[in-house]
Amino acid sequence: MNSIVVKNLTKKFGSFTAVDEVSFEVKRGEIFGFLGANGAGKSTTIKMLCGILEPTSGDALVGGFSVAKEPDKVKQNIGYMSQRFSLYNDLTVEENIDFFGGIYGLEGNLFEERKKWVLHIANLEGKEKLLTSSLPGGIKQRLALGTAVIHKPQIVFLDEPTSGVDPISRRNFWDLINSLSAENITVLVTTHYLEEAEYCNNIILIDAGKLIAEGSSKQLKTNYIKVPIFEIECSNVVEAMELLEKQDFVGETSIFGNNIHVITNEKFKDESQIHNLCKSSSINVKRINKIIPTLEDVFIHLLEKGKK
Ligand SMILES: Nc1ncnc2c1ncn2[C@@H]1O[C@H](COP(=O)(O)OP(=O)(O)OP(=O)(O)O)[C@@H](O)[C@H]1O
Ligand SMILES: [Mg+2]
Repeated sequence: MNSIVVKNLTKKFGSFTAVDEVSFEVKRGEIFGFLGANGAGKSTTIKMLCGILEPTSGDALVGGFSVAKEPDKVKQNIGYMSQRFSLYNDLTVEENIDFFGGIYGLEGNLFEERKKWVLHIANLEGKEKLLTSSLPGGIKQRLALGTAVIHKPQIVFLDEPTSGVDPISRRNFWDLINSLSAENITVLVTTHYLEEAEYCNNIILIDAGKLIAEGSSKQLKTNYIKVPIFEIECSNVVEAMELLEKQDFVGETSIFGNNIHVITNEKFKDESQIHNLCKSSSINVKRINKIIPTLEDVFIHLLEKGKK
């Protein structure tokens, strides 16, 4: 069953189109990754899906409600963690929880139970009186998620929840996202970390407001790059990259750890082209392997292709 159905969703700011006829579907209980460079239109799309920004045209059904026609119904049925965590820094932990519980109309035993749950998942039991501004980033992030889902919504939007948080906290945060999904809660999440995209059931990539790829990580890696990709370990990495970029059989190159990834194009014939090129330029090649693309390769390929 679909939890979110987006149809030709568009947002214009004056003559500038920030989100351009975007359509996609998200199944119930799915962790859905939303990727794109800075300014691609992710936050604008999320705000429309949360019913807080009116679409210029198109529509989306979120939990069965139209974001264009019933934004208030949408708001009541979702959780939203905005890009700059929605917490008030000058309130204590408990005051923040009370504030969000109040917004969502929780009271009595149910509220007390949910407050305990939020404190538990944020590791803040017994620390209710701490000022929110004094909390470490990872804890603040868990508190922000807890307050965003305090009313047990079926659908949650998380806008870059892990940006600026250390790797261990990020890993723990993803355990929390997985536990929501295990309860059949739909999670739509934006991130700049491609290793996090690997944890998603499905992914979309948008560029300049347009949807340019969608599918599981596996589908993205097999459906969008049809040309061979190589990983090269060699001396003079920067020089080698510059040289490779100039060749007519090379589409894109990128640095991956200490190695170079080379995405070829339709003019590519075989590996000897790379060997011969390096030999003639005194670049010492230690290893060339044909590889399965990483998500990063796929995105570089698609984004560069869009520019050409
Ligand atoms: N209220 C607004 N008025 C005018 N332009 C806007 C407005 N909000 C966003 N934009 C523009 O729309 C584009 C998309 O912005 P958006 O915040 O959706 O991008 P994003 O993908 O979330 O980027 P980031 O990764 O940096 O958060 C940007 O060019 C931005 O400057
Ligand atoms: Mg954003």
